Order: sequence, then C-alpha cells, then structure tokens
Amino acid sequence: MEKLAVKYLGLTLKSPLIVSSSRLTSTLGYLKEAEDSGAGAVVLKSLFEEQITQHINTLSSSSGYPEADDYTSFYIKSHSVEEYLNLIRKAKEILSIPVIPSINCFSSEGWTGFAKNIVEAGADALEINVFFLPLDRKKSAAEAEKIYLDLIEKLKKTVRIPIAIKIGYRFSNILNMIDQFYMRKVEGVVMFNRFYEPDINIDKIDIVPASIFSHESERRYVLRWIAMASAQDIKIDISASTGVHSGADAVRYLLAGAHSVQVCSVLYEKGIPFLKQMNRQIETWMDKNGFRTINDFRAKLNYRNYEKPVIYERTQFMKYFSSED
Ligand SMILES: Cc1cc2nc3c(=O)[nH]c(=O)nc-3n(C[C@H](O)[C@H](O)[C@H](O)COP(=O)(O)O)c2cc1C
Repeated sequence: MEKLAVKYLGLTLKSPLIVSSSRLTSTLGYLKEAEDSGAGAVVLKSLFEEQITQHINTLSSSSGYPEADDYTSFYIKSHSVEEYLNLIRKAKEILSIPVIPSINCFSSEGWTGFAKNIVEAGADALEINVFFLPLDRKKSAAEAEKIYLDLIEKLKKTVRIPIAIKIGYRFSNILNMIDQFYMRKVEGVVMFNRFYEPDINIDKIDIVPASIFSHESERRYVLRWIAMASAQDIKIDISASTGVHSGADAVRYLLAGAHSVQVCSVLYEKGIPFLKQMNRQIETWMDKNGFRTINDFRAKLNYRNYEKPVIYERTQFMKYFSSED
C-alpha cells in the first residue's frame, strides 16, 4: 500500500488530497493535470439543479408546441447537461483516479432521478452540493433541515454508488445532522462548503461579492467539527474542505479525523501542480514523526482520542484561558 493511500467512500485514493469542485475540475485538461500532480481523486464542477430540471422538463414535453418553448435556453441548458455527462465518460476513460461528479441543488423535487444518468456515465461516487438558504422566518430549524433529509432519502432510492453530502456549517446541530445522514446510509460528508457571500463596497455604495477564495485562517470554522464528527460512533467518511493551503493544513485535518482533504483556492493561486508539493509536505511530516501510513495518525487528535477533549468544547475566551484578556 502506498504511503499516502486512504480509503474514502469505499474507494482507494493514492493521496488524501482531492481537487474540489470548481472551474479547476471542469475540463479534461485540468483533470489530467490534477492526476499528474498527484491528486487522489477529483470532484467535478457542480452541475446545477436548474440545468437538470430544465433538461428533464424539456425532454418530457416534446409538446407539439415547440414555439412555446424557450429554445435558446433549452439548447444551452440541455447541451450543458449532455456535456457534463460526456465529461464524466471521458474523464473515466483517461484517468485512473476516482471521478466524483457533483450536483448543486436547492430543492428535493423533480430532479433526483437524473442522478441515475450520472451513475450510468461511470461516476465512482456522487457529491451533493446542497444548501437551502433559510429565508422564511416562520419556518423552524427542524422544518428547514428536513429538506436535506427528504433529498437524501430520494437520492438513496435511485443511486447505487456512494454519496457524499457537501454541507455548510450553519446548522443548529451539525452532529445531529450528520447522524441523520448516516442513518439514511449516506457514505460521506464534506465539511464544509464555502458559499458565495455578499459584501459592501462603500466607495461604490454597492453590493459586491465577498472574497471568492479562502484564507487558511478559515480552518477555525472547520477543525472543531471534524474532530467532533469523526469521534462519533458512526461510520461516515469525512472529507475536509475550506482553508487547506498547504500539506501542513491537510495534516491538521487528517489529525482531526478527516478521511480525505479537498483543495481549491490554493490551486487557483499557485496552480494545480502545487499538489505535488503538498503531497511531499505531508510525506516529509510523516517521516519526521515516524508515521508510515495515513492511518497511523488519522484522528489522533480528534475529540475521542485527544487526552483533553474538553479543549474542543471551549468556545468562550475566559480570562483564565486567554493571555489577551
Ligand atoms: C471559483 C470557485 C468555484 C467553486 N465552484 C464550486 C462548485 O461548483 N461546487 C461546489 O461544491 N463547490 C464549489 N466551490 C467551493 C470549493 O469546492 C471549496 O469547497 C471551497 O472553495 C473551500 O475550499 P478552499 O478553501 O480550498 O477554497 C467553488 C469555489 C471557488 C473558489
């Protein structure tokens, strides 16, 4: 077994580093570059639910009233769905690492059957990039969160390959949500997506996108939850995402209990071949610390294995704990 090999979603990855869903996984050229640079797997750029529903609606409504359809929109959208399926097929032909397509969705209605097409195209697993922005103040957290569970139940009825659900961290109880996913036989959870956020430009007095790329300091929102989730008595794989900018960052998430680590922003900044350096950094750290395999140290510092787990429960800066006070 290779030194950096890990198991994720039942697949063997030669490195824990996965190129996460973005433009960097949208073409065969990028995907090949990722494999050549030592990626353990690739998650393809997300296909959007609107694209799928448009595709399905138009396929099922060869109505005889074609002039009623918006052809331009149909062509573009269905074409992109076909292109996506082709990207999966071709990626499977030319790559030896696992190919994980991603569907971005915001409802549990009307599109889940389509996931079968993705499986038929040869996907090794499926990532569901899902976020329902809770806009209705009359809806309770439980009602809002039920949409995720309905979606999973529907998908699990049609999809026979492993599913990972890529979530944000804005749940009232993240560990309970992961438990709910596990009970519905979801194989993996990606913690966490980093969504588009608005910011304000005071010179233009206008809304602008907040920084699109992450900073490594954003690990602070993620690490605790990986350490806690990986300590639960359930079998669900964890893929870390957000703030991985070096091999050292990947090691941190692995020590916290992640099974794999996804990388995006740093590859935009430094190029896909930076993966080689990240793999080398992980290996060098392993050698220095006498670890022969990733399993030798994975989850060593999680909530269950760390000798003072209470550190993960601490959230307030009490004077006693902080030299800054
Ligand atoms: C330009 C860009 C495009 C992205 N597109 C997607 C996408 O289509 N689907 C998805 O699940 N995540 C998408 N993401 C989120 C990344 O996959 C990743 O989860 C996030 O950037 C956090 O990882 P990082 O800190 O390594 O950047 C995108 C991120 C960026 C920066």
